[in-house]
Amino acid sequence: MQSTFANSLTIRDDVHAVVAAQFGRRLAVQLGFSLVDQTAISTAILEITRNIVKYAGTGQITLSTVQEGDSTGILIVVSDQGPGIPDLALALKDGFTTGRGLGLGLPGAKRLMDSFEIVSHIGQGTTVTMGKWKS
Ligand SMILES: Nc1ncnc2c1ncn2[C@@H]1O[C@H](COP(=O)(O)OP(=O)(O)OP(=O)(O)O)[C@@H](O)[C@H]1O
Ligand SMILES: [Mg+2]
Repeated sequence: MQSTFANSLTIRDDVHAVVAAQFGRRLAVQLGFSLVDQTAISTAILEITRNIVKYAGTGQITLSTVQEGDSTGILIVVSDQGPGIPDLALALKDGFTTGRGLGLGLPGAKRLMDSFEIVSHIGQGTTVTMGKWKS
């Protein structure tokens, strides 16, 4: 797998989350993703980066283009140094929230992407790595 492009943004408030989502959509447009997939990518980015603002305060997002044979994809890494998630299986359940949200951000983003992985350590932070291939 070869990464041909990478760009990072710091996430500190909801405006940054919206900018990151727009950035992801623009990259998807440039790579020729369908309108449905453009929206899936920008929505997943918005949910995961909004979680940073809500639960961790600050974090980073890195977007890369990946090429594997004839397949082109987008790889997104969103990380923070916040409190971490104690129970990942629970956090990924529809409707689970420790805040006032609907508890649909993580499971929704997972469904929208082709790959989705969370690594989290209490007191150290959370990293979500998610990707989508152009179909
Ligand atoms: N980056 C993070 N750091 C710490 N905890 C997190 C982080 N992201 C998610 N969580 C925890 O996982 C739970 C589920 O997140 P999810 O995005 O699915 O729902 P929500 O943010 O509570 O509501 P919604 O996204 O529907 O508005 C959150 O309530 C929070 O407890
Ligand atoms: Mg959320």
